[in-house]
Amino acid sequence: MLIDSHAHLDSGKFDSDREEVIARAQAAGVDTIVNIGFNRETIPSTMELAEKYPFIYAAVGWHPTDSADMKLEEDLAWIERLCSHPKVVAIGEIGLDYYWDTAPKEVQHTVFREQIRLARYLHKPIVIHNRDAHEDVVRILREENAGEIGGIMHCYSGSWETAKMCLDMGFYISFGGPVTFKNARVPKEVLARVPNDRLLLETDSPYLSPHPYRGKRNESAYVTLVAESAAEIKKISVEEICLMTSQNARSCLSLG
Ligand code: NI
Repeated sequence: MLIDSHAHLDSGKFDSDREEVIARAQAAGVDTIVNIGFNRETIPSTMELAEKYPFIYAAVGWHPTDSADMKLEEDLAWIERLCSHPKVVAIGEIGLDYYWDTAPKEVQHTVFREQIRLARYLHKPIVIHNRDAHEDVVRILREENAGEIGGIMHCYSGSWETAKMCLDMGFYISFGGPVTFKNARVPKEVLARVPNDRLLLETDSPYLSPHPYRGKRNESAYVTLVAESAAEIKKISVEEICLMTSQNARSCLSLG
């Protein structure tokens, strides 16, 4: 029992062997995968996967790096329609990205805020992407009362102080491959302090492969390696980590 709470298995990087990748995840004990559709191309391909595989769920939203391409009214209406699909469990990934210079901050802020408002209106949790924008992400989440719906801080890489503010708003903190790196001192310390009932695991496949596959293509089966690291850091068994994080994902995303 193990859940990959964030994957992009519709990515072109899996075009040659997607079936095998999904079969390997199942063989590794991954019984649920949340695939993320985050722009005009990946929302339809995510929905296709979620409709094809009973154990793959979808999150749909507009990624900050694609926010300049969003037709606000039209695309919000599209996301809203998709949210009534039984396999759509969250709105995301949404947030702010100050690393890639692909959209002005003001545009990112508007797109982020509007999607939080939609999520509150629809009572859907949100999946947060945050790169080099900790302060503004927390400020906007607070200003928009995102705590009302909560959600997931995806592939968390910030400080404990920021994590604490997100936990206080009711968010879950999700860790991926980077926490397995030997030199990942801060993520390991933060993971150790995240309460057991708020911890999630993910791969972000095909990105961010865990050790020893760093730099190679990531896949959902490797969430087992993240679970092993998390168990070591929490000083509990791998079975306990798998059970705990699966229960957390189920309650956060209202999975059956
Ligand atoms: Ni992602």
